[in-house]
Amino acid sequence: MNIPDRQSIHGQWSSRWTFILAATGAAVGLGNIWKFPYLTGQNGGSAFVLIYIICVAALGIPLMMSEILLGRRGRATPIRTMKALATENNAGQWWQIIGWAGTLAGMLILSYYSVIGGWTLAYIVKSVTGTFTGATGDLAASTFNTFVGSASSLFFWHTVFMVITMAIVAGGVQGGLEKAVQYLMPTLFFLLLLMVGYSMTTGYFGKGLEFLFTPDFSKLTGSSMLAAMGQAFFSLSLGMGTIMIYGSYVPKDTSIASTSIMIAIADTGVALLAGMAIFPIVFANNLEPGSGPGLIFQTLPVAFGNMTGGIVFGSLFFILLLVAAWTSSISLIEPLVTWLIETFDMSRIKAALYSGVATWLLGLGTVWSFNLWADLKFFGLTFFDLLDFITSNLMLPLGGILMALFAGWLMTTDNTKAELHISNPLLYKTWQILVRYIAPVAVFIVLLNAIGVL
Ligand code: PHE
Repeated sequence: MNIPDRQSIHGQWSSRWTFILAATGAAVGLGNIWKFPYLTGQNGGSAFVLIYIICVAALGIPLMMSEILLGRRGRATPIRTMKALATENNAGQWWQIIGWAGTLAGMLILSYYSVIGGWTLAYIVKSVTGTFTGATGDLAASTFNTFVGSASSLFFWHTVFMVITMAIVAGGVQGGLEKAVQYLMPTLFFLLLLMVGYSMTTGYFGKGLEFLFTPDFSKLTGSSMLAAMGQAFFSLSLGMGTIMIYGSYVPKDTSIASTSIMIAIADTGVALLAGMAIFPIVFANNLEPGSGPGLIFQTLPVAFGNMTGGIVFGSLFFILLLVAAWTSSISLIEPLVTWLIETFDMSRIKAALYSGVATWLLGLGTVWSFNLWADLKFFGLTFFDLLDFITSNLMLPLGGILMALFAGWLMTTDNTKAELHISNPLLYKTWQILVRYIAPVAVFIVLLNAIGVL
């Protein structure tokens, strides 16, 4: 049976390009520039990068197609979309769990994302005031360590980041921000190219490339594979409903497949460029690649401190990173805010206030995990690492798999074919096999392997 097409009450993207830019804006964020390099460093480099790229291609792209497909079919917020689609396909109402879990995951992620967004704010101030002029690796590292060691500084900047984010959400001015991103994102891209150019002058560019791209499988462990898979989901914003919301505004005739491929390429390209900018600086300055979440804050200042016009480029870089973090933050909290509005009939301002306060409070755990609670470990992880593990490595992959299973098994072939518009039967079949069998099995193997069952 074919169900008549729904219209989103929020309208549609004006063109396929607007959608690609908006989705890329939500996808590109701290995940690419802050998280990808430090995870790569912690997990031994190249083999991690290879697994990450394989996950983006073999899991990320087909799952992104599924998530857009569900969104475009349902044309509502994730919880409602899943409810409507479960009814439409005679599936159990428990499939709504995809919407619930995704909404929760978004809030959990934003709680620590805001803390790192706060670091970015602080680094704008440090760059503008010339803190890094002539900086050595040691100076950059000690500046960072003093900064994160101060609970009150992190508290302050986390608060500022959250207040501004929620003000954007409450004021409904995302539209303006998203338009601005269309110009700012390409600028960020060029700045990254400039940094790669600086890294070429360090004499350690080859070593950086080797670290990133010459696979050394001896470094591969179950947990680094899980980290690579989790990062693929995190970076592409998959598995929590963000892409589903964006998909709900996609015009009927847009090709979901080629759009997903382009978003994945842009997102991965930014991450790889960040890696190519950072690792040569790490090696040139004898810094520790596995030093963790502070990696970019300890390396990039060295580059800015020693290049001509470094104050301008450095300030600009952190400003653009901040904007990239904001667009992602908004997409992380939007499911919760819209759900509060729909369910409790509250104003947008109130919904933003409640979500903001709750997320901010939770974020204090991350603030303290770098200082007061640094020695407090849960299963050997700090509060921040634990939260990141639960969201990126468990909630997003499992959410993504549920979406894939729904699109692959519960929706009829006629329906998915009509939404995806893939005229080549072989390509359609490939997508179907990937979402029905390969992706779910692969995610479970990686999970079981990481906890030591396999
Ligand atoms: N993809 C974003 C980043 O790389 C983070 C994010 C995850 C945003 C999930 C929305 C949903 O920074």
